[in-house]
Amino acid sequence: MLKDFWYALDFSHAVTRKPRKVTCLGQDFVLYRKRDGSVACLSDLCVHRGGALSMGTLVDDVIACPYHGWQYAPDGACVKIPANPEGRGIPRKARVDAYPVRESYGMIWAFLGDLPEEERPPIPHFPEHDDPSFRPVYFEMEINANYERTFENVVDAAHTPFVHGTAFGNPDKPEVPDFEVRQGKWHAEADILLSPPPAKGRWKRLYKDKPEQVVVTNAWYLPNIVKLHVRLPFGDLLLYDHNVPLSRDRTLVKIVGYRNFLTRKWADGNAVKRIEKIFLQDKPVVESQRPELLPYDLSDELHIRSDSLQVAYRRRRRELIEAGWWIGDHEHPAATVIPSPVRREVPELAHAWQHKERK
Ligand code: FES
Ligand SMILES: [Fe+2]
Repeated sequence: MLKDFWYALDFSHAVTRKPRKVTCLGQDFVLYRKRDGSVACLSDLCVHRGGALSMGTLVDDVIACPYHGWQYAPDGACVKIPANPEGRGIPRKARVDAYPVRESYGMIWAFLGDLPEEERPPIPHFPEHDDPSFRPVYFEMEINANYERTFENVVDAAHTPFVHGTAFGNPDKPEVPDFEVRQGKWHAEADILLSPPPAKGRWKRLYKDKPEQVVVTNAWYLPNIVKLHVRLPFGDLLLYDHNVPLSRDRTLVKIVGYRNFLTRKWADGNAVKRIEKIFLQDKPVVESQRPELLPYDLSDELHIRSDSLQVAYRRRRRELIEAGWWIGDHEHPAATVIPSPVRREVPELAHAWQHKERK
């Protein structure tokens, strides 16, 4: 799992004044909206006795731990310890990690790491979100597999005719023509020619002539996002999947799907059903993959030309692992905390609250 990236932790509409627990990188965080509408993201681990702040209550913009009532401001600093008699100071180390937050593309993003602003990798650009001709739907599904397996599955064009033969794959046309990978520092994409099967259901009447081939753009964006852009004869369908690592073996796939056809609300349910169907087809296959974790060495699995996007990912990931961006693959992660930016400014916090696993 990669630290020091922006992660989309939840859909915007799910985050309110009620503290909400979310999990990513095997750690729990609490999200809540402040009175001005912006969002705070704190480690969900109270530094007193490890109470879950997400079970606590908000007092204005301050969150109170449910156990002994310590109150934390949105920047993570403890501002009140109710058991202390009046006038007793609050220790400087009494603070939880707080993470920079942005809200865009209908998602709440938190920067899970301690890099200063100018060194942070960017949030990718999703132009469809601000284009009024597109309509989004939101969907999520939990998959019992490591997030890199679910991530690679989406950019993998060659599985489509086999796993999605009854949806958008065509079992009679399994060849993947050679394609070129365009790669940047934080992403890679490719235009791939696929042969769609005959349309079914509500979309059938949209077709005049069924095209022989459609251009699909598959892309990945570090750390955990994949894009699928299908150009259908009657419009564009885009899926952005956020593969949120809940733990080593569980992934919450959060999907924002955009379409610029059948853009009325009544068609949303059908769009979500199609997405769900595809992921239900992927789920058992991805959950069966062994080894559960993506190999580190490229030579541990066999690659062919149509796997170029995944190979590009594995090479880039290896560079980042070597540069120290990776955090543990432990089956049961200890109660650790992702260091937040403030740790660089306050020396005594540098190694605070990195709880050790009990032997
Ligand atoms: S555990 Fe949070 S205040 Fe004691
Ligand atoms: Fe798939």
